[in-house]
Amino acid sequence: MSYKWFVVARALHVLGVVIWIGGIGAVTTVMFPVMRRLDSNEQRVWMFQQIERRFRPQARLAWLIVGLSGLYMVSSLDAWSRFVNAHYWWMDAMVALWLIFGLMLFIVEPFIVGPRLEETLRDDPVRALRRMQAMHWILLILSLLVIAVVIGGIYGWL
Ligand code: HEM
Repeated sequence: MSYKWFVVARALHVLGVVIWIGGIGAVTTVMFPVMRRLDSNEQRVWMFQQIERRFRPQARLAWLIVGLSGLYMVSSLDAWSRFVNAHYWWMDAMVALWLIFGLMLFIVEPFIVGPRLEETLRDDPVRALRRMQAMHWILLILSLLVIAVVIGGIYGWL
């Protein structure tokens, strides 16, 4: 294992997590409250699409970097057995979160939520926005918890 490349992978891993989870934090705590205060559904759909269009490529790239750098670290450490060792449950938590976000970024948002957004907002905008914001809060809290348990796990606290 090259220590230098391990450090590079670890730095990329953390940078990817910062950009991606930081973006989720901004969308959840800034974009949704602003959207709920807008006057019309046209404005809401427009704002959602503008932000999504810019954030989605960033989030996808960050997701890819986190996954590739994570896999590189697992292989450098030859730590594959951790995934079946209950002591390292926090490793499984990282991968599970990564898979959930992959599903959201590549399937749920572009193919299920996105195309039906206008219709959903037209029917009951308050309920639709509340539901979307709640979903983002759950993902944000889950992500922050995973980051905390990973740090705890690495330092042997768990
Ligand atoms: C395919 C998915 C992933 C894999 C294979 C993976 C793998 C790894 C590995 C091997 C480490 C180093 C562990 C050690 O030093 O003992 C690590 C560190 C870390 N990972 Fe992941 N990870 C993945 C996804 C994630 C996700 C989704 C998050 C964010 C919630 C995350 C957050 C972190 C953090 C915060 C660290 C600690 C960084 C540090 O202190 O330097 N990882 N990951």
